[in-house]
This record gives sequence, C-alpha cells and structure tokens, in this order.
Amino acid sequence: MNLLPLIVAKRRGEALSAAAIDAFVAAVSDGSAPDYQISALLMAIVFQGMTEAETTALTRAMAASGEQHDWSTLPRPTVDKHSTGGVGDKLSLVLAPLVACLGAAVPMLSGRGLGFTGGTLDKLESVPGLATRLDTARFRRLVETLGCAFIGQSEGIAPADRRLYALRDVTGTVESLPLIVSSILSKKIAAGPSALVIDLKVGRGAFMPDLEAARALGAALRHTAGAFGRRCEVVYTRMDAPLGRAVGNRPELLEAIQLLRGQGPATLRELVLALAVPMLRLARGGDPNALAAECDAALDDGRALARFAEVLAAQGGRMDVTRDDAGLPAPAATETLRAAADGVLPAPDARAVGELCVALGAGRARAEDAVDPAAGIVFLEDWGASVRAGQAIARVEASDASRAARCAEALAPLLTPDPVAAPASAPLLGVEDERGFRALGRLSELLGGMGR
Ligand code: URA
Repeated sequence: MNLLPLIVAKRRGEALSAAAIDAFVAAVSDGSAPDYQISALLMAIVFQGMTEAETTALTRAMAASGEQHDWSTLPRPTVDKHSTGGVGDKLSLVLAPLVACLGAAVPMLSGRGLGFTGGTLDKLESVPGLATRLDTARFRRLVETLGCAFIGQSEGIAPADRRLYALRDVTGTVESLPLIVSSILSKKIAAGPSALVIDLKVGRGAFMPDLEAARALGAALRHTAGAFGRRCEVVYTRMDAPLGRAVGNRPELLEAIQLLRGQGPATLRELVLALAVPMLRLARGGDPNALAAECDAALDDGRALARFAEVLAAQGGRMDVTRDDAGLPAPAATETLRAAADGVLPAPDARAVGELCVALGAGRARAEDAVDPAAGIVFLEDWGASVRAGQAIARVEASDASRAARCAEALAPLLTPDPVAAPASAPLLGVEDERGFRALGRLSELLGGMGR
C-alpha cells in the first residue's frame, strides 16, 4: 500500500478517517507498507498529534490485527494491571494471584524488560520449566480454573504493535501520546479484561519524568479505554528509587514470594494494596477499606502464596515456595558491598541501578539479548536506615566474580551514607478515576478517598 496521501494529510495537520487508519494498520500487518513510509507517518503523528477519535480508531485497528480474547462467558469478572515500567517492579507477580484468590480473574499479559526497566516475563522465567508461551486453550483453561495465568505478549496479540514499536524505537517516535496510548491499550483490549488498572510510574526511573506529563497520558488512557467499554483507573506511583530491596529476575521473584508470605518491605506492601484495591473495586465493587482488609488477610494467611504456587506449577514451573530460595538455581558469584562511612543510607537512583543490572546481565540492552536469570542486586537495608562504616548494605549476585565485583564498585557511589536523613517520599502521587485526578501520597488517603 502507498501511504503517501496519509503522510501528507497528517503532515498538514488533518485528521485521518477510521477507514484510512484501518488501511494503514492492515498495511503494517501484512508487510505491504515499507518501513520508510510507516516511519514518516509516525513522525507526522508525533508532530501533529491525533484526535481522540483517531486514537480510538488506531487502538481498535491494532487490537484487531491479531487474536482477541473474549472472557464474557467466564463466571467471574476479569481485570488486569499494566505498569508503564520501572526498576524492581515485581508487583504483577503478587497482584495476579492475590486478586485471583479474591474472586476476580486476571488474564495477565506480560512483557520482557528492555533497557534499564525489567519485565515480568523475564522474572517468571527464572523458574526452571515455566512455560509462558501457552496456547490459547491452555491459557483460557488456567484463567477459568485458577483465576489467573501469566502469558507473554505472543505473536498472536496485536502484531501490528510489534512492527510499529520496533520502528518507533529506532526513529525517535516513541514519545507521542496517541502512539503510546494505542500501543498500550491495543494489547490490553486484545487480551480482553473488562477492567484495567494502570500503574503509571513517574520519576527518574520511569519514562514519564514528571507528574504533569504523566497526568496527560493517564487521562488519555482512561478516556480511550472507556471508548471500548473498559473501566479503567490510573494510579500514579513514584519511580525515583528501585521498588523494594531486590532488582534482577531471580532476586525479584524471591522478594515477590516474601510479599506473598505476608512479609517484605512495608512500602512494597502499600503499593500492592494501592493497586489490588482498585483492581478488586473495578472487578467486584465494594468498600475500599473492606477490600484492603481482604487483601491483608489473603497475604497473611498464605492464600495468595498458595495460588501463586498453583499457577506456576500448572505452567510447568519447578520451585518450592516454602524455601527462602524457592529452590531456584543460586547465582555462581556474590559480592558484598559495605558502607563507606557511618550515616544514613540514601535512596539510589532507579535508572542508575537499572543500568548496572543490565551491565550485570540481568537486563537487556537490545530486544534480542538473553538475560541471566540469577543476576541482580539485593539491598540489605531500607533507604533512610542508619548504618555503620563497614556494615553490609548490598549484595551483588552474578554469573562470575569479576562482573559482581565491577558492579559493586560502580554501585558504591550510589549508596554513600549521608550525614543527615533526607525526608522520606510517599510511594503514591495520585489517582485518576471517575471523579478525575486527585493528588495523594499514602494508601490511607487512597482508601479514604475511594467510593465516597
Ligand atoms: N509501553 C508500550 O507498550 N508501548 C509504548 O508505546 C510505551 C510503553
């Protein structure tokens, strides 16, 4: 297909018709449009933007470019969570079984990490034997019987997005609101949940550096999801420092298991509830404080952990959640980092930690790179803790000793103790729901403000 008329129209600032957008996406999917014309159109969209109607049409066409799931016959409501990506973000591993054991179904579609941000699929694949390429029948059976299953974004789901994203990545056209909205939502619309909670990360380790830009994206996501009849809430969460104490695939999986045991860092648990409560509220309705109490109980009495173990075993994973190391293969080398002085442990920069993890082998610089499942960094104290010179503050885990030592050396300046404590920052920044945007910092404010 010749995209020239569409390129010229968009360059002039004209809105494209739904039929033109359908033809464009068809030409992306069937390979009949050349990369240079697709890229030129993408660049014109970056400069001229798209109307709401165009964004909806693009999302619809991209979702329809591959297989689409329909869960309407399922006896329980479906809901998913999407995170815009960060460092140490293992929340999906906890949320899916937690929400599933409280009566909603979570057909979770997960991605791989790229650059300094991690991906849920890579974390899951640190479990030996675990299959994330499930055929549709098996995926559906697991969601029907266990309430959740983890699959990767297969060839089948929104294939047009894969070609478009690969071109955006190399042509400087990622940063466009309609392109981001259609990319995120086409995959979620195709995966079929009736409700969606977006964890929109904001800060130095996120692709949205400030709340103002994030709010524009959040509002556009909510609006476009609504055009498909999907209820959607956006929770804005801080991503300046890594989430929790573990970064890397195996380390994060182990921290997720701790959370599912009712343990783990308090701020991570707060984030789990800040996302689980809106998920359950959209799926089932109910008083937010009562839903939070249900989440607390399922984490503390082992139901969420049991469901996680069941789902992973059903997907072929071999692990033992009763053990602290879950029986997963241990890293070949570790290096302990010790505090350089007495003082207060600072919150390290999330992006810098993410980049160190890529160098360690835990992440990938290019999409085709393999990851080392056991590599990562485990912080041994919370940010803001008082530490003494010589005290162990972090452990680097890697496949060889020299890589681990190089990483520990590069990590040291990020963890130089401060003489005085910096004020702790709240994990939440705001929420966008049917009442619009509200700024808030803590879970208690979220619970207090919901449903009133
Ligand atoms: N995540 C996506 O899936 N697509 C984008 O365009 C940006 C973030």
